[in-house]
Amino acid sequence: MNQRSSEDGRKKVPARQFTFAPRMAKTPRSFIREILKVTERPEIISFAGGLPSPALIDVGGIRAAAASVLEHDGPAALQYSTTEGYLPLRQFIADRYRTRLGLTVSPDEILITNGSQQCLDLIGKVIIGTGDHIAIERPGYLGAIQAFSLYEPVFHPIPLCSDGPDPGMFERTFRDSPVKMFYGVPNSQNPSGITYTDATRKEIAGIVEDHGALFVEDDAYGELNFSGHALPSFRHYLPGQTIITGSFSKILAPGMRMGWVVAPPAVMEQLVIAKQASDLHSNYLSQRIAYEYLTHADIDGHIGKIRAAYRHQRDVMLRMLEEQFPETVSWTHPLGGMFVWVTLPAGCPSMEIFEQALKENVAVLPGIPFYIDGGGSDTLRLNFSNSTEEKIVTGMERLSRVVRRMGSP
Ligand SMILES: Cc1ncc(COP(=O)(O)O)c(C=O)c1O
Repeated sequence: MNQRSSEDGRKKVPARQFTFAPRMAKTPRSFIREILKVTERPEIISFAGGLPSPALIDVGGIRAAAASVLEHDGPAALQYSTTEGYLPLRQFIADRYRTRLGLTVSPDEILITNGSQQCLDLIGKVIIGTGDHIAIERPGYLGAIQAFSLYEPVFHPIPLCSDGPDPGMFERTFRDSPVKMFYGVPNSQNPSGITYTDATRKEIAGIVEDHGALFVEDDAYGELNFSGHALPSFRHYLPGQTIITGSFSKILAPGMRMGWVVAPPAVMEQLVIAKQASDLHSNYLSQRIAYEYLTHADIDGHIGKIRAAYRHQRDVMLRMLEEQFPETVSWTHPLGGMFVWVTLPAGCPSMEIFEQALKENVAVLPGIPFYIDGGGSDTLRLNFSNSTEEKIVTGMERLSRVVRRMGSP
């Protein structure tokens, strides 16, 4: 091998050119991950990420659950396990669908995954062939855009209005193209914070039904509805055509990487094969700890605390927007979740706001990467779950100064 020596005598590995699969060239790097690297400095108040509040991760409870599992069933909990996941945990999830949403779900229709992000990859793998048509929200969840891009679909972004996807565009898209599936986040969407109304749910479910397509309902934020009043799942309207993805990241701890997918039997069969090929099964120890925690801690009380805290943080952020920002700025009023979506006045490009705000030690997320067909350069996503009230007040004061400075002629 032609290895050269550098001046200090160490061997230099020659740079090589590799060719990668064409799908990689079509898949964007996660802009958020890149931005978060910049915003990790401790002096920065960050509204850019999407992290839960560290104060609401029940470390003591999870420690006790882990200790109990290891003490009582250590060797089994550390063994290989089934692809579908720990049956009592799947039963727990099925029971919660019944009590929370009135849905009848069998544990056989549930597959435990490595976070709900893995559901998106598995769904892409089993549903999307190169050049297949899929519809998503505009703006859309970046992690889904990235996961699905690997399977090289033709994307049809459907604009989100304040009550859900634009039904006219939805109808036209399904009429004009052979759309196989729609992916959306009907509850407290990431990035916009929008929740679909019941009327919109019914209307677009009807269109999906007429075209025999699949509805992928990403319900990462379903438990974080601040009123506690849950809207119907699409499975209620489209029982045989809905795939639901769920997550313990927002109510337990994202580092446990626990999620799940609910799918009709024929889809489930394919998902299980894809999951086997991917990683055999999800982290079994995490599944056991999650189950122990869920059945011994006061999970409803814990979720209640998260809802109350985030509702307050949202209120503080909305109040600051109301009081400190110019009238030319508009924003959404999320009913739950973690994000407020801001539309800036003309002359305020979000990339410049990002750069100027960073100089004031505030990080925001420009909305651009959530639009796969361009656009969004006047939008920002602001996260309220990961900042205390004090930080929200200080950070929003600084941000309002930047916006007023840039927005004034
Ligand atoms: C809409 C949505 N779906 C899925 C995920 C993935 O979450 P996880 O893999 O932690 O369950 C996220 C994470 O923020 C999200 O916002």
